Amino acid sequence: MRSPHAALRYRAHGYRGACRVTEEALLRISQRWARRLLILVPAVLLVLFTACSDPMTTIEPKSDFTEAIQGVYEIVFWLSMFVFVAIMLITLWLAVRYRERPGRVANQIHGNTRLEVLWTIIPVAIVLVMLVPTWQVIADTTATPPDDSMVIEATGKQWWFEFKYPELGITTANELHLSVDRPAHVKLYSDDVIHSFWIPQLAGKVDMVPGHENDLWFTPDADSVREEAYLGQCVEFCGASHANMRFRVYVHTAEEFDAWVQNELADAVEPTSELGQLGATLFVVRCAECHTIRGTAASIADFGPDLTHVGSRETIAAGILDNNIDNLVDWISNPAEIKPGINPENDITDKDPPLRFMRAFEEEISAEDILAIATYLSELK
Ligand code: CUA
Repeated sequence: MRSPHAALRYRAHGYRGACRVTEEALLRISQRWARRLLILVPAVLLVLFTACSDPMTTIEPKSDFTEAIQGVYEIVFWLSMFVFVAIMLITLWLAVRYRERPGRVANQIHGNTRLEVLWTIIPVAIVLVMLVPTWQVIADTTATPPDDSMVIEATGKQWWFEFKYPELGITTANELHLSVDRPAHVKLYSDDVIHSFWIPQLAGKVDMVPGHENDLWFTPDADSVREEAYLGQCVEFCGASHANMRFRVYVHTAEEFDAWVQNELADAVEPTSELGQLGATLFVVRCAECHTIRGTAASIADFGPDLTHVGSRETIAAGILDNNIDNLVDWISNPAEIKPGINPENDITDKDPPLRFMRAFEEEISAEDILAIATYLSELK
C-alpha cells in the first residue's frame, strides 16, 4: 500500500510535469510572438511616423534661416551617430575579446599616454567640426537684412501678438502674412514681460524684451507658399497663458499678398445683417475703449487687437480657437475661461502702456447682445 506521502509526492510530480509542459508551450508561444512582434512593431512604427505631419516640426525647414540651422543640425546628428555606433562597436568588441576565461588573470593598468592623447584630440576635432559651421550660421542669420526686406514690427503682449507693417500702414494681430519673394525683417518688441518669437519652420527663437529692440530676418523658400498656415508660438514663459500665446504665418505668392494688403488697407465693411448692424452699435459702446475698427466710431483705442478685418482671420484668441460665431460668443462671454490669467483683477493701469485684460461680458450684457457683437465681428472680412 502506498503511503499518503507517496501519493502526495506522485501528485506533486504530476503537477510539476504538467507545469513543465505548460512552460514549454508558453515558451514556444512567446517565441512565436517575439518573432511576430519583431516584424510588427517596426512596421507599425513606420506607418505611424510616415503618417506624422507635425506643424511645429523643426526638421522641415521652409526658409533660408531654418535651412541654415538644419545644415548644422545634420552635421551634429551624423557626428553623434558616428560616435554612438563607434562606441557601441568598441564596447562589444572589448566585452568579447576580454571576457572572463578560465586561467585568465586581469591585468590592472593605469594610464596610456598615447590613448589619452588620442581620445582628447578626437572630441576636440569633433567639437571644432561643429563649431565652425555654427559660427558661420550665427553670422549669416544675424547679418544686416537685405534692402528689399519688408519690415514687420511684432510686439508680444500678454497673451497675443501684434503685427504692424509700418511701410504699408497695416496693423493686425496673431496672423502674419508674408510674400514669398521678399525677405521678412521682423523687429521684435514687448509691451510687458519677456516673450519669444518662434516659427519652427521659418525662423526663431528670438526674445521679445521690454524696452529693447531685437530683430531677425528670413526669406521664405520658393516652395513655402501654401494655404495652410505655419504655426508660431511664444517660447519664453510669460505667465498663466504662455501656452495660449500662438500665432499663424501665411506665405503667399506676390499677387495673393498684394490682394491681402489691399483688403487690410480698406476700412471696415458695413455689416449687412440686421443683427450685425445692432452689433456694430453695441461694439462702439462696449468694446471701443480697447479695440479699434477703422472706418467706424470705434477707432481710438489700441490696448486690444485691431479688429478691422477680424472676420477674415482663421482663428481668434491668439490662435487657440477657430474663428466662428460660437467661439466668438464664448470668447466675449467669458474670455478668462478660455485663456486663464486674463482677468481684469490682473490689470496694471499705472504703467505705460497700461496692461488691461478683457472683461467677462456675460456679466454685463445679455446673450442676445453678445450674439449681435459676434455676428458683427464675423462680418468684418
Ligand atoms: Cu509670451 Cu510666453
